[in-house]
Amino acid sequence: MLKKATYLPLNLSLAPLLLLLVFLLSCVVHGIHEKKILRVHNSIWSPKKSYEASSSCFSRSLGNGKESTTLEMKHREICSGKTIDWGKKLRRTLVLDNIRVQSLQLRIKALTSSRTTEQSVSETQIPLTSGIKLETLNYIVTVELGGKNMSLIVDTGSDLTWVQCQPCRSCYNQQGPLYDPSVSSSYKTVLCNSSTCQDLVAATGNSGLCGGYNGVVKTNCEYVVSYGDGSYTRGDLASESILLRDTKIENFVFGCGRNNKGLFGGASGLMGLGKSSVSLVSQTSKTFNGVFSYCLPSLEDGASGSLSFGNDSSVYKNLTSVSYTPLLQNPQLSSFYILNLTGASIGGVELETSSFGRGILIDSGTVITRLPPSIYKAVKTEFLKQFSGFPSAPGYSILDTCFNLTSYEDISIPTIKMIFEGNAELAVDVTGVFYFVKPDASLVCLALASLSYENEVGIIGNYQQKNQRVIYDTKQERLGIARENCSI
Ligand SMILES: *[C@@H]1O[C@H](CO)[C@@H](O)[C@H](O)[C@H]1NC(C)=O
Ligand SMILES: *[C@@H]1O[C@H](CO)[C@@H](O)[C@H](O)[C@H]1NC(C)=O
Ligand SMILES: *[C@@H]1O[C@H](CO)[C@@H](O)[C@H](O)[C@H]1NC(C)=O
Ligand SMILES: *[C@@H]1O[C@H](CO)[C@@H](O)[C@H](O)[C@H]1NC(C)=O
Ligand SMILES: *[C@@H]1O[C@H](CO)[C@@H](O)[C@H](O)[C@H]1NC(C)=O
Ligand SMILES: *[C@@H]1O[C@H](CO)[C@@H](O)[C@H](O)[C@H]1NC(C)=O
Repeated sequence: MLKKATYLPLNLSLAPLLLLLVFLLSCVVHGIHEKKILRVHNSIWSPKKSYEASSSCFSRSLGNGKESTTLEMKHREICSGKTIDWGKKLRRTLVLDNIRVQSLQLRIKALTSSRTTEQSVSETQIPLTSGIKLETLNYIVTVELGGKNMSLIVDTGSDLTWVQCQPCRSCYNQQGPLYDPSVSSSYKTVLCNSSTCQDLVAATGNSGLCGGYNGVVKTNCEYVVSYGDGSYTRGDLASESILLRDTKIENFVFGCGRNNKGLFGGASGLMGLGKSSVSLVSQTSKTFNGVFSYCLPSLEDGASGSLSFGNDSSVYKNLTSVSYTPLLQNPQLSSFYILNLTGASIGGVELETSSFGRGILIDSGTVITRLPPSIYKAVKTEFLKQFSGFPSAPGYSILDTCFNLTSYEDISIPTIKMIFEGNAELAVDVTGVFYFVKPDASLVCLALASLSYENEVGIIGNYQQKNQRVIYDTKQERLGIARENCSI
């Protein structure tokens, strides 16, 4: 009795102190979670953004280093010349992104389930699509081909570089004149019996077309690339000198497209930066040592980014030192860039799942990062734990972790890091955490999605690569990452 009587007032007087202690403790617990401030209303997409005034597809050349060349990388929207309805655009992007990922998965499945012997390659059913959905490819650069400026869509997920070419059987509308081989003395067609023509099957999924018509034997190699959405380009495989700023590459093999259809915007063609021998990286490897890198700005900045060729790291404006991870070698997926995802952390809390340690593709044309279901589930659970108290919103398309941030100004959001073999780290920029499905922030979603099946290959999309220097080193078979402010 007595004991209880004395304890009671003591407990009461301790109560505020205990509460304070609990409060302090929770602050400490919160404090150990790494967070970043997102200015919600700065990220809101509005039609007022300045870059809509400029509508040229062509970009500037930036500085040259000792053995390197840097090109301005423009957002493709700028070149469409149309006023953009952001509400529609943001939603449509997700739908198209899903189609790209599905066709990539189909292509990967077809490639990995095929027999590997030399002889079976031609027998194998390789889908006619190259797995690309063009409208999600967002960046363009300008190069000089045969002395004319050409604007090219940049794609690390395909290999053959091509432009629309005169005389054209069927061409879409592009800004600036078509490439005209008849006025160029450096233009040469590639012959059917060349190894270059035979390399096409690995690069495009279709072998070179060499059959003759009406008894006339064809000697030059014809290419076809079909994209996932029904877009295609078809024409002569040829060589020409290409100028990347001040660096001239002679006999560069490209597609002279005479029959082109699809969502290529106003661009002249496409630049293939994949890993196969036909790609621009492989063809310029003597000059640029098989290295290229890019820095993708966030679209809401309305700024350009940069695409650099060469291994001179002094041209980078990296804010952290570059960490490298090996590129995994998979002979069946030889034109893809694949990393080993060994871990991830949310707000500094490392996730535990046995699914780490598998290959994940890094792609400039996929928007939203796709993770195997088990990893995605771990990410989502930890993210929701740390980002609690915000009004949730219905999921949209592939995104299922959504919030209504209409009435918020500045919010702290947990940091997201992906860790790769060798402890290389991708610290996702604050602009890469949420996707704005509605431009007014009434529907923002965690910008990550789950694959349908555990055995599908994950993909690191461009949304999570913003404001990073991403370095592809095909000679040393490694990929480097560092933080950088990409807006120029
Ligand atoms: C290509 O564009 C650049 C930059 O706008 C310009 O300096 C150059 O003269 C152009 N080249 C040709 C051949 O038109
Ligand atoms: C390819 O064919 C051309 C003529 O059609 C011939 O001159 C050339 O020697 C051939 N090259 C090879 C490698 O067979
Ligand atoms: C670039 O690569 C070449 C060949 O591998 C090497 O000799 C050179 O030192 C490298 N340059 C830089 C700046 O790393
Ligand atoms: C940029 O990367 C290089 C190469 O890793 C490194 O030497 C340099 O210190 C980095 N710059 C900054 C500011 O961290
Ligand atoms: C990824 O790295 C881990 C740790 O180094 C290793 O155990 C695993 O075998 C690697 N996975 C692949 C696919 O190389
Ligand atoms: C989001 O929240 C605002 C106010 O907080 C509300 O007016 C609006 O209806 C909400 N939107 C949705 C889609 O729930």
